[in-house]
Order: sequence, then structure tokens, then C-alpha cells
Amino acid sequence: MKQPAKRALALAILSIAALAAEPAMADQTSLSVINWWTAGSEAKAMNVLVQMMKTQGVTIKNDAIAGGGGAQARTILKTRLMEGETPGAAQIKGVEIQQWGHTGLLANVDAAAKAGEWDKNIPTEIDNYMKYKGNYVAAPMDLHRLNWLWYNRAVLAKAGIKAPPQDWNELIADLAKVQAKGITPMAGGGNGWMIATEFDPIALETGGPAWYRDVFVKLDAKAIDSPTMVKALERLRQIEAYTPKALAGRTWNYDTGLVAHGQAAFQIMGDWANGQFEFLGVTPGGPKVGCVAFPGTASDFIYNVDSFIFFRQHSEAGRAATIKLAETMTSPKFQLLFNKYKGSIPDLMNVSLKGYNPCQLKSRAQFLTASKEHNLVPSFSQNMSTYGPPTGAFIDSLDHFYTSNETPQAAAETMAKRVEVAKSQD
Ligand code: BGC
Repeated sequence: MKQPAKRALALAILSIAALAAEPAMADQTSLSVINWWTAGSEAKAMNVLVQMMKTQGVTIKNDAIAGGGGAQARTILKTRLMEGETPGAAQIKGVEIQQWGHTGLLANVDAAAKAGEWDKNIPTEIDNYMKYKGNYVAAPMDLHRLNWLWYNRAVLAKAGIKAPPQDWNELIADLAKVQAKGITPMAGGGNGWMIATEFDPIALETGGPAWYRDVFVKLDAKAIDSPTMVKALERLRQIEAYTPKALAGRTWNYDTGLVAHGQAAFQIMGDWANGQFEFLGVTPGGPKVGCVAFPGTASDFIYNVDSFIFFRQHSEAGRAATIKLAETMTSPKFQLLFNKYKGSIPDLMNVSLKGYNPCQLKSRAQFLTASKEHNLVPSFSQNMSTYGPPTGAFIDSLDHFYTSNETPQAAAETMAKRVEVAKSQD
């Protein structure tokens, strides 16, 4: 990480830290957990945590703040801290955990990591994110795969499509066939975050893992403003052409409902959609809905790990409850049940996937292969690959491109410029 970046964020949050230093007088066996899990499946999964903590004498306030992607939740987290309200934990992912580490507000949960042998049971790629300066300050709850295509079998059959698309040309041909039947081909495009989420596998498909890392992890201007990016943006335009404009403003889970009920053929979304299909009573991999790796990315795995940072508590009871919370989040029993509802897979690779659906089984198998073959990439759209400002620059550029007549060439150029500016703000 760049030094100026570290300093800027630390300074910005120092003032928050000073305010938050006032002892909180709240009942310390009660901890609030800030997250953005408001879809039916997400709330059901979160309830597993609430119930398991209850049996241990800790009340969890499920502080769910609407907005897929969590931008609102992250803003509210900062506001709460500035108002002197210290939460128990908050959903913060990827490299951003480091930025929060600089604030000095985070609790050390090494005791939980030691008891659960996180370094042994959780893949290194995931485990590394959880530490700040060698101490654990966060815990992972799930492992999502992003590069999926969800489809309704009856709609595909109606359009004369025998098998889900395996490459880009097949996907476009299938979208045209569905359109010809008067059915919505693609559900999506609801907002900037959703557009970026759809672009995520399109970019990987177009450029492959090495280019993906150059763009979204290394933020290399030459890779961003490149013919490969132009091609990826052209592909996003093709998808846009098959996505009804009327879906602007709709949520990802609304779109999942359309595919579940045969009102749309496809959705490009991470496997939180898997959980939502299950919640709607339609098992992906079953007779109604199928999942296939996003065309052209079958051997790759774009990962998104939902993790929670813990805040220092002022009482002994609060500190003990925090350790219990971190232990529970990473316990085999919790991870098995939570991830079943969430649509993801456990971070613990030694937990059996008993009762999981076929898409989840594929996800685990693909994670292990992709990990061996260096085909794992951190999702840029889900804040896993870089810091807030560059991620925001990518999302804003894509949103602008999608909702205007900007050419792919111009969009690639402005994207590179915006990311360059964001790097210095970071
Ligand atoms: C989170 C998922 C969540 C999804 C939609 C993603 O950013 O990582 O856990 O289900 O947003 O809310």
C-alpha cells in the first residue's frame, strides 16, 4: 500500500477515533453488527448468528442498512463512530480492513483465531486479509463466487436453447433467441454497483486473470486504458442491449425473483443470488433454475469474502463478547448453516457441505482448483481488490458509461484518469 494513502485515511479517521474514545455506557453483553444484508435470504442467514450468540448470553443487534454493495452501510458506520457510538462489529472487506487497522479502533481477536486455528483451517488468501500488523482484527463468515450466470430452464427451453451458454458468442446468441420470444433476456442494470457486478466477470472473461489483476489490483493505467478494456466495455454494451431499461432502480434480489419466476432468462450475479433463489423456494441446480460459470470463466474464481471488523469495547464483558462473536462466526457449526442460507460456501475448507445445493458444491470444487492454478482473483466490484476511492472510480465510470452514449474508447480513457486521481486520494 502507498504511504500517502495510509496517512490520508489515518488522518481522516483519527478525528473519529478521538470522538469514539468516550466510554460507551451501553449494556456490553449486547453488540451491534453493522451489515447490508436486507434481502430475505441474507436476513435469514444473519439470524443464525443472532440465535447462536443468544445461547451464549450475547444479544446481537442486527444492524442491517439497505443498499447492495454496502456503500450506505459504510457511510453510516463512520457517522455512528463520529457520534460516539461504537458498534460491536461491521462488515468491511478486503484491503479496506488495513485502513481500519490504522484508526486504532479495532479489537484484537487473536484469542479467537488461535482457538479456531484460522491459519490452518482458512485458506491463506482469505486469512491474510484478517490481520493488521500481525494481529487478527477481523473474521470471515463466507466465501462467495462472483462469476456465475443464473438461468431459468423453462425460459431457455421455450427459446429452443438446449444447454446454457459456454462462451461469449453462445451467450449473445441465446439472449437474442429469448428476446425473439418476447421474454426479458437479462435481468440487471439496477444501479452502479449492479452494473459493476455484471462487468466483473465480463472483464475477467475478456482479459483473463493476469490482465484483471493488472487493472483492478495493480491499478495499472496502461492496462485500464487498453484495447482489452475497450473490448470488455463493448461486451457490457451488448449485455445492456438485452437488459430492459425499466429495471433501472431495481435491486439484485428483485432480478433474482424475475429469473426464479420465469419472467427473465438470465442474471449475472454473485452467488448471494443462490441464497435468494433458495429463499424463494427454487433450488439452483434443480429442475427450475440452473447455474453455470459465467461463459469463458469456467476455470476461474472471482472471490468475495464477507468479513467483519471488531471494535474495541470498553468493558470486560464487552471484550469477552467480542471474542465469542469472532469464535462463533468462524465455528464449523455456524459456517455450515449460515453459508447454506447465504448461497456461499464456508471459509473453512474442512467443513463438509452436507445439504448444500449443486452450485455450492461446484463453487467449493472450483475454488480449490482455481487456487492451485492461480486463477483466483479478488472481486473489484465487491471492494476486495483495492481501496475505496479507486473502487469508486471504477464503479462510477461504468455507471456513467452504461447510462450514457459514451464510446468504449472514451470510457476506457476516462476510467484510467479517474483511477489515477483516486489513487492519490486514497
Ligand atoms: C456482499 C454480499 C451480499 C451482496 C448483496 C455483496 O457486496 O458481499 O454478502 O449478499 O453484496 O447484498
